[in-house]
Amino acid sequence: MNMKILITGSNGMLGHDLTKVLEDRHDLILTTSKTLDITDREHVLEFIVENKPDLVINSAAYTNVDGCEENQDMAYAVNGEGVRNLAIACKEIDSPLVHISTDYIFNGENTRPWVEDDEIGPISVYGKSKLQGEEAILEILDKYFIIRTAWLYGLNGGNFPKTMLELAKNHSEITVVYDEVGTPTYTPDLAQGISELIETDCYGTYHLTNSGSCSWCEFARYIFEIADVDVKVIPVTAAEFARPAPRPHYSVLENRNWIKNGFEPLRDYKEAIKEYVELIK
Ligand SMILES: NC(=O)c1ccc[n+]([C@@H]2O[C@H](COP(=O)([O-])OP(=O)(O)OC[C@H]3O[C@@H](n4cnc5c(N)ncnc54)[C@H](OP(=O)(O)O)[C@@H]3O)[C@@H](O)[C@H]2O)c1
Repeated sequence: MNMKILITGSNGMLGHDLTKVLEDRHDLILTTSKTLDITDREHVLEFIVENKPDLVINSAAYTNVDGCEENQDMAYAVNGEGVRNLAIACKEIDSPLVHISTDYIFNGENTRPWVEDDEIGPISVYGKSKLQGEEAILEILDKYFIIRTAWLYGLNGGNFPKTMLELAKNHSEITVVYDEVGTPTYTPDLAQGISELIETDCYGTYHLTNSGSCSWCEFARYIFEIADVDVKVIPVTAAEFARPAPRPHYSVLENRNWIKNGFEPLRDYKEAIKEYVELIK
């Protein structure tokens, strides 16, 4: 069904692939932080009421996990209040909101993949601010898709695989964290999944990632293997590789609601990263 869809953060990594996947079938209103700052409640309300989209997809966020520790006000303004503003506007025009959330709303202390209704407990400002966004949606809207995803990489943005391949150009050894486990997720695959979900009215909270899981260290080794790059990967703990924001040790997301609602699982992360490395090398 053709829809008028407003995408926020459309020049971000996921926003870019959402645009590519949706532009043939739908009429898109593409906005950026310059044309629609989601922290500006008045403008958000005015813009959305005036354009009256059938659906809003929020791919805007303050995504610098370490930066959020320093710029807490900005983190909560964008990831919390910004999402509230969009929810208020969607309520006003009775349109569903698709919102992208994160594995970092969990504390990481689990030994099996997290399901959608597991207890949440973010350990970083980024995670807390993203949770605030989820909570605003639950408070305001009935018609929403909250999609928690993880470890994103795609063509249009900085990300872990790109960083690894860049570092390998002038390092023979690279230290990589081994005690954080999750699922690398390719933004075109996620965007394709979102395009299927929005054709339905199966509202709710979803975990959506590629299949499989690995540590950052295993992921780096696999990237170098498929890129045929000779680099020694030295495993270190997250504690040794000190960063401002703590990350969950285990944040694999079981895509339970996705499967329960009859959608096909996204392909294995190893297949997806192969395609990506081919494209960028
Ligand atoms: N990256 C990951 O590994 C990861 C993992 C799990 C979940 N997620 C979630 O997935 C979503 C997409 O992430 P991504 O990696 O594609 O992010 P991204 O590349 O950083 O893009 C985010 C976009 O949001 C825009 N933005 C920032 N502040 C804004 C504001 N006040 N108003 C409007 N737009 C604003 C940015 O525009 P400017 O560049 O102009 O500031 C940017 O284009 C986010 O919700 C993120 O939290 C990401």
